[in-house]
Amino acid sequence: MTKKDIHFSVEMYSSAEELTPADAALLSTARETTSHAYAPYSNFRVGAVAVMANGKMVAGTNQENASYPVGICAERVLLSCAATQYPGIRIDTIAISYDNRGGKSDHPISPCGICRQSLAEYEERVKHPIRLIMSGMEGEVYILERASQLLPLSFTASDLV
Ligand code: THU
Repeated sequence: MTKKDIHFSVEMYSSAEELTPADAALLSTARETTSHAYAPYSNFRVGAVAVMANGKMVAGTNQENASYPVGICAERVLLSCAATQYPGIRIDTIAISYDNRGGKSDHPISPCGICRQSLAEYEERVKHPIRLIMSGMEGEVYILERASQLLPLSFTASDLV
């Protein structure tokens, strides 16, 4: 038997003011984009904005439905738009923010499990890591070098071979 530790590091900033101008601008856009969410059931509006290798920006917001399971998270809306508008182009960074109209929006959130699986496969298909910037409408900011770090020992396409 052997044991292996799996590590990853998260950069933690006390506010957006500590970020580089480019990262701060992307996060600011993600915060603004939360207003485009359709979240009448949860009142939890998520905005995600990507900067792509071709310099284009792609956004996603959560889109809910009266039939609750039909709703889709901001991150997967973004990935679907990116893959459709700019097929094969890598995503450099995604900023994710949220406006919790029923509570606080002052700490970072990270993608749900299904979105982690989708982000990991996007990295794999374009062979490029996706940096994640995570924050609420204010307060601390977390930065992760590679979205797939959130899903260690994941199930991937290579398992199907
Ligand atoms: N949601 C996202 O869009 N992204 C996340 O990372 C977490 C959750 C959405 C799903 C649902 O519309 C609402 O937030 C509350 O869970």
